[in-house]
This record gives sequence, structure tokens and C-alpha cells, in this order.
Amino acid sequence: MGTLVNAENIRGVYYTEGKDVVAVNDVSIKIEEGEVLGLAGESGSGKTTLGSIISLIARPPLHVEEGTLEIDGQVQELGGHAKIPRTWRGAVVSMLPQGAMNSISPTKRIRQLVYDVMRSHESKISKEEALDRARERLTTLGLPARVLDAYPHQLSGGMKQRTVTIISTLLNPRLLVADEPTSALDVTSQKILIEMLLEMLEKRIMSGVIFVTHDLPVLRTAANRIAVMYQGKIVELGPTEIVVERPEHPYTQALMSSVLAPEPAYANTRIEGMSSFDRSLFDAPAVFH
Ligand SMILES: Nc1ncnc2c1ncn2[C@@H]1O[C@H](COP(=O)(O)OP(=O)(O)O)[C@@H](O)[C@H]1O
Ligand SMILES: [Mg+2]
Repeated sequence: MGTLVNAENIRGVYYTEGKDVVAVNDVSIKIEEGEVLGLAGESGSGKTTLGSIISLIARPPLHVEEGTLEIDGQVQELGGHAKIPRTWRGAVVSMLPQGAMNSISPTKRIRQLVYDVMRSHESKISKEEALDRARERLTTLGLPARVLDAYPHQLSGGMKQRTVTIISTLLNPRLLVADEPTSALDVTSQKILIEMLLEMLEKRIMSGVIFVTHDLPVLRTAANRIAVMYQGKIVELGPTEIVVERPEHPYTQALMSSVLAPEPAYANTRIEGMSSFDRSLFDAPAVFH
């Protein structure tokens, strides 16, 4: 198996009144075929911004100043006024935004959401065909087809999140970027969602996942590799076990000690300073395992 996605030299800047915010600062990252790549880091480190650029949904005030994306040997320029083919969004890369399960319209049945998603890509698809595809996908993944007749409030949080995840991959994207998909769920529902994502990969519904979360224990069970972001840059990247058990970058070490049982070695690392800009963390060289 080879590389599925190769994102290079990505620079994303929010043009805001007053000053520009460089949210993603020259990031290059690869996603291997069949893997879940965890994207970790504290709030504000640039995870969502990077995810939205790779999913080709960046829009003002966010501007992609530089970057290329290669998928299946096709190279897409991202910077400046590059034209993004409409056919890529949702079908080649798809993003499941944070909180998607709570932003679906409460007055529409799930079937309407399915139809809207399918029609946005295949304008001529019939309602029946769209629903057939969704029904088949739901049952393949162990959900009852009657979910389609439900209104969002009739589904539990876990079920709703699994449903929007399935809908976001109806077009069989090569890559799914899931932004904090487990953050609003209880531990049991988190586990079920992660198992479903892995099953979807196994069934080749998509071929790779970027799993964005600030929740490191979740990534421990879900991710093959973890990339850690800090201040718009990737500071450490490697196999999950290594990044979790033997992190080398001082920021990763501080992040780990803040969520896991304190290791004697990091016991003196101050966590309070993490959210603010810390020159010593910023200057430490990135570690790629
Ligand atoms: N719409 C916006 N306008 C200006 N700055 C933004 C906007 N969205 C995000 N940012 C800034 O970009 C940086 C990265 O944010 P984000 O990608 O959301 O981080 P994360 O997902 O890791 O929490 C932060 O400094 C944030 O304040
Ligand atoms: Mg975010």
C-alpha cells in the first residue's frame, strides 16, 4: 500500500481586520492508504483550518496562500486563486465538520439530508436511487434503514453521529476528514463510532481518514499515526505508540502529561503556559519518527 494523499507546503491565513492570522504555517503531511491519521493539538493550533484546506472547503476570511494536494497521482494546486474542481469536493475528499450532528435541520427527516447530499453531486439522481444507496450503506454498517424516516431529535447522539458520518461518505471519498467526531459523545458511543470508522476503511468506503481531535486518549485507540500541531505547525509526527509513549518534542510531552497519568520525566513541565505562545516550544525542532 502506498501514499493516498500528499499535502505539501500548506499555508493558510485568515485575513481579518487589524491583522492576519497565520493558522497553518507551511505544513506538509502524507496520509497512507488505509490509515487513520490523528491530528492532535490544543484548541487554536490550526487543526480545523488544516482539515478544511485539505478538504478543499476553505473560504474567506481563510485564504490558502500556498500548497498542493496530490491524490491518486492527480495534483491540485491550492494556493492563490487556484480553481478547485467541483467534482473533488465530497467525492474525492469529504469533511465531516465539528458538530455536524447538531447542525442538521431539525424539521427535515434524515432521508431529505441524504437526498440533498447526493443531488449536490449527481444532479440527476432520483430520490429512490439516492435512498437505495443510503439504505444499503446503513445496513452494511449495522444501522437500521428506518433511520432514514427519523427526524434528527429521534436519534440518540451516538446514532446521529454515526448517521452523519455515513452520509458524509455516501460518495465514497478517497479521504474523510472528521473534525472532532467523538468530542460530543459518551465513552461508549465514542468506541462504537471509532469501530465504525475502522470498518468503513476495511470495506474501502473511503481509503484514509484524518481524525482531528484534542482528545489524545481517543487517538490512542483510533489512529495509526499521530501528527501533533502547535501554533500552525506540525511539531511531531509518528506511529501512535511512539508519539504517545515516547514523545520527543517538548510540546507533545507537555500535552501528554496533561491528559495521561503524569510520567515522572514530565512532572515538572508546566501546562498552564501551553495555550499561550511559548518561544521555547515554538523554537524546538519538529520531530518526525
Ligand atoms: N474565521 C476566523 N477568523 C480569524 N481567525 C480564525 C478564524 N477561524 C480560526 N481562526 C484562528 O486560526 C487559528 C487556528 O484555528 P483552528 O484551525 O480553528 O484551530 P483548532 O481547530 O486547532 O482549534 C486560531 O488562532 C484561530 O483563532
Ligand atoms: Mg477545531
